[in-house]
Amino acid sequence: MPVGIDDLAIYVPKLYVDCNDFAKARGIDPHKLEYGIGIRKMAIVDVNQDPACMAANACLKLMEKNGLQPQDIGRMYVATESGLDESKAMNSFVIGMLEQVYGEGSFEHAGGIECKFACVSGSYALYDNANWIRAEENNGKAAVVIVSDIAKYDIGSTAEYTQGAGAVAMLIKENPRLLAFDQKVTSTIITNEYDFYRPFGKETPLVNGNYSNLLYLIQVRKAFDSYKEKALRYGLIDLKDGESITDHIDLISVHLPYGRMGEKALAYLLRHEWRNLPRWKEVIREVGIEEPTPRDPRGTIESILADTEFMKADEKFRKLFMQTALYHEAFEKKMASSLKASELIGNLYTASMYMGFRSSLEFEYKRGTDLNGKRVGFGSYGSGSSAMVFSGVIQPSYKEIVSAMNLEEEIGTRMKVSMDEYEGLHRGIGRGLFDSINHSNKEFVLIKIGGKLTKKAGLREYVYTT
Ligand code: COA
Repeated sequence: MPVGIDDLAIYVPKLYVDCNDFAKARGIDPHKLEYGIGIRKMAIVDVNQDPACMAANACLKLMEKNGLQPQDIGRMYVATESGLDESKAMNSFVIGMLEQVYGEGSFEHAGGIECKFACVSGSYALYDNANWIRAEENNGKAAVVIVSDIAKYDIGSTAEYTQGAGAVAMLIKENPRLLAFDQKVTSTIITNEYDFYRPFGKETPLVNGNYSNLLYLIQVRKAFDSYKEKALRYGLIDLKDGESITDHIDLISVHLPYGRMGEKALAYLLRHEWRNLPRWKEVIREVGIEEPTPRDPRGTIESILADTEFMKADEKFRKLFMQTALYHEAFEKKMASSLKASELIGNLYTASMYMGFRSSLEFEYKRGTDLNGKRVGFGSYGSGSSAMVFSGVIQPSYKEIVSAMNLEEEIGTRMKVSMDEYEGLHRGIGRGLFDSINHSNKEFVLIKIGGKLTKKAGLREYVYTT
C-alpha cells in the first residue's frame, strides 16, 4: 500500500525585504545576492507573527482546500528549530488556534509532538508518520506534518542575507495523490557537530557558514551512498553499464538555506557519482584540468579544511564543473525549478526543502513536463548534524493538485518594508503586538504574551482575524 504526500499547503508572511535595498544598505553588490546567493526577496515576519501561527495558517489552508475535519486527522507533528517554549510543544499552540475555527476539543482524539533537529527534523517527522500509517496504527486517519521556521541571523553578519520565514503543511495518507515514498531505502547519518547552533535564550544562531556548508555536502553524500546501496539491493533501481543512480532520479530536492547551495549540492553529488563513469572523460575534457585529490585520503572534514591547497584547487574545479554541458543539463532537468520559490522567499530552515519540492512541481508542470511516475530524490540536512536521503514517485493523479498551484497567488499580496522597518522588526523595537505593519485578514496572529513577572509568564494568545 503506497503511503506519501497527498497534498501540501504553504504560508508565507506578507512582508519582505527587497534584496536591492538590502545590498545598498550593506554596501554589497546586488549581483552577489541574486547570483552568488540566489535571493531576490526575503520574507520576514510582522510583529504579531511567530512560527506557531505560520504553522497554523498553513495547516488551516491544507484542511480547507481538502475539506478535512479534525476527526480525519490522527496525528499532527510540527517540525521547527524556532521553538517558543522549552517544554510546551509547538503543535499544541497550533491545535489551540485550529480549535478556534473547528471547536474546542475537536482535535482531542489526535496525537503528535514538536520535532527538533535543525533543518532535517521535518524529514524525520514525515518518515515516522508514514511508518505509523504503514503499521496500520492510524485507524483510517491521515497525519499532518508541518514544517515552520523563521531564519534569523545577526544584523551585519554574512548570514544576514540568508534569512526568510514560512511554513509548509503536508497531508500524509495511504494512496496519496501526489507522491508515494519509496520503501526500505530511506537512509540517515548522524554525528555530534557544532556547525550551527542556537544556545538557550539566544535569538540568532552561532554559525560557521563555510564549515556547515561543507559538512552538509559530506553528510548528504554519505547518506546518499547508503541510499544507493539499499536501492540497488532491494531492486528499486537497476543500473546498466555506464549509468549513475542519479540518472534514475528525475527531480532532486535538497535543503536550501539559499538557492546557490542547492546548485553546489547537486554539483558535489554528481562529481561523486560520475567520476568513475565513462562520461567523466567528457567532463574533464570540458573542464580542462584534472580533478584535484586531497592529501589525506580519509576525506574527513577536518583533513579537507586543513588542506588549503586542495580547497583552493577544488573550488576552481567545482566552478568549472558547474559550467560543463553535462552539469547544466542535469541541473536544468532535475533541480532548477525547485530553486524558484527560494529566490522569492529565502531561507525557511525545516521548510526549505519542502518549499523547494513544491516549487519544482509547479514550475516543472508549467514548463510542460509530464510528472507521472517521475522519481524525486530528497537530500535533507540538519546542522548538529544529521542528513536523511529518501525518494518517492509522483502519482498518476498528481495533476489534480499540481495544476492548481500558483506560488505568487498562494503567497498573496506582499508589502515591501524599508530597511528601517526591517531593522526595527529584527531588533524587536518600536512596535507592539497591535502595531503590525500589515493588516492581517483571515489568518492567525499573536495578540498577547504573558509578562515575565506575571503568573501567566510566557503564555501566548492567538486570534483568527476576520
Ligand atoms: N556577483 C556574483 N556573485 C558573487 C559576487 C558578485 N559581485 N560576489 C561574490 N559572489 C559569489 C561568490 O563567488 C560566492 O559564490 P560561490 O559560492 O559559487 O563560490 C557567493 O557569492 C557567496 O559569497 P562568499 O563571499 O563566498 O560568501 P559569504 O561570506 O557572503 O557567505 C554564506 C555566504 C552562505 C556562507 C553565509 O551567508 C552563511 O553562512 N549563511 C548561513 C547558511 C546556513 O544557514 N548554514 C547552516 C545551515 S545549512
